[in-house]
Amino acid sequence: MQLNADGKLKHFLTIEGLPPLLLEEILNRADQFVSLPGKAQVQAPLLRGKTVMNLFFENSTRTRTTFELAAKRLSADLLNLDIRNSSATKGESLLDTIRNLEAMGCDMFVVRHSSSGAAHFIARYCAPHISVINAGDGKHAHPTQAMLDMLTIRQHKGDFPPLKVAIVGDIKHSRVARSLIHALTTLCCGEIRVISPKTLMPESIEQMGVNVYTDIEKGVVDVDVVIMLRLQHERMNSALLPSVREYYARYGLTEERLELAKPDAIVMHPGPVNRGVEIDSRVADGPQSVIMQQVTNGVAVRMAVMSMVLGSQAMVDGS
Ligand code: CP
Repeated sequence: MQLNADGKLKHFLTIEGLPPLLLEEILNRADQFVSLPGKAQVQAPLLRGKTVMNLFFENSTRTRTTFELAAKRLSADLLNLDIRNSSATKGESLLDTIRNLEAMGCDMFVVRHSSSGAAHFIARYCAPHISVINAGDGKHAHPTQAMLDMLTIRQHKGDFPPLKVAIVGDIKHSRVARSLIHALTTLCCGEIRVISPKTLMPESIEQMGVNVYTDIEKGVVDVDVVIMLRLQHERMNSALLPSVREYYARYGLTEERLELAKPDAIVMHPGPVNRGVEIDSRVADGPQSVIMQQVTNGVAVRMAVMSMVLGSQAMVDGS
C-alpha cells in the first residue's frame, strides 16, 4: 500500500516492510536538507504548486511544526486544520472531513491521531493522487520520528551493524519504539536492547529481534546509543507503576548510569522530555545529549519524505 507499482514511496505510514535501500534513500536525501540553527536554511522548491494539509487530532509541538517548516522550505502551500474548532466537533466523520479537504485541492495529508491505523484508513479511502504521511497513530507507528532518530545516530556513529542501541522506558505504549526497532532491524543494527519494568514491556517483544532487560544498570552497559522514552500516561488505562518517584529511582537516566555505557555514547529522546521522571536534567542538557540535534534533523527528514512521496527529484538550492 505504501509503494507504487514501480517501488517508489507513495504514502509513508510505517517502517515495517520497507526495503533497506528505501530507508537509506530517505537518510541520504535528508542529509542534503539539513540546516544548522543560525545558518542559511536549505530551501528546495520541489513542492511548488502542491498543497499540504496538517491534520493533527492529537497534540504535538515538534512533529507538527517541523512538518510545517519542511513544507514551507519545499515551497508548498501549507494549511494546519484547527481540529478543536473544526466541524469534527459537530459530528462530521473523518471520511467526510477528508472528502471536503480533497475538494479544496489537497495533494498530501500529514496525519496524527490517537487511534492506531487512522493514517492507513485515510490512505485507503482518499483520492488516488493524494499521499498520506503518518505523523503518529496511537501506539502503532511514528515513522518520520524513527527516521530522524536514524539520521542522528548515523551522523554520530556511521554504519549501524557495529552498534548497540538501548531503548529505555515505556516501550509498551510507544509508537516511537516500534518504528525505531523496525528501522534499526532493517538497517542491520548490531544489537537492540529494550529496557523497562515488566508492566511497561509489550508481550512477545523478543519476536521483534530485541534483547529484553528489566534492569537499566545491566541494559546500558557498553551501549553506543541510549534512547529514553517518556511515560505515556495518556495511553495507560490502569496503574502500571507504583509511583513516578520510584520509576525515576529505578529507571531514570542519571550521570552515574550513563557512565555504564560507552564513554562516547550519545543520549537521545524524541520529546517531550519529562525531567526528573525518565531523565536527569544534567544528562538531558549534558555533553552526550543530541536531543536538540534530533529536532533539527526532524525538518530535514520531513523534507526528504515529503519530496519523495510526491515524486520530486532533489535539487537543493541553499547552503
Ligand atoms: N516526538 C514527538 O512526536 O513530539 P511531539 O509530540 O511534540 O510532536
